[in-house]
Amino acid sequence: MDGEREEPGRAGAARPLVLVLNGPNLDRLGRREPAIYGRQTLDEIAAALIARGEELGLAVECRQSAHEGHLVSWLHEAEDRGALAVLLNAGAYSHTSIAIRDAIRAISVPVIEVHLSNPQAREPFRRRSHVAPVALGTVSGFGARSYLLALDAAAHLRHAAAS
Ligand code: DQA
Repeated sequence: MDGEREEPGRAGAARPLVLVLNGPNLDRLGRREPAIYGRQTLDEIAAALIARGEELGLAVECRQSAHEGHLVSWLHEAEDRGALAVLLNAGAYSHTSIAIRDAIRAISVPVIEVHLSNPQAREPFRRRSHVAPVALGTVSGFGARSYLLALDAAAHLRHAAAS
């Protein structure tokens, strides 16, 4: 039946899911320290990710919360929904949160750590990430493009899973 046919780029159950999770203060992007984080808002980044996801045949869902527990629950949800990958910019929780680290370890969904800035090139307290050791990989330092690069990496996981 025509209505049931899968078309690339169309929302449908068969499209692998990529959850994009953002932590505290990332809802302020666009006006928060633009010299460091750029002028794009999180809504604009989300729109670009959804559009790129359509090109790649991925369903992209973007969320943001200042609450550590929300990020933990959403990581669990990624597993429960059989997501292909999670892109995680945990913001400052990257440097502090054992709970988020444990949640990543508790799921089998690959997590790609994302940062707009390059925390390694900033203050010493940003140089330690609790996410990095349990992530599949990290993309940082490319501004909003870090998310798009990470999404392309996530798309490759689908081919890796199929082969
Ligand atoms: C950030 C880097 C973190 O150190 C900082 O706390 C953020 C943003 C980034 O995307 O560059 O909130 O995760």
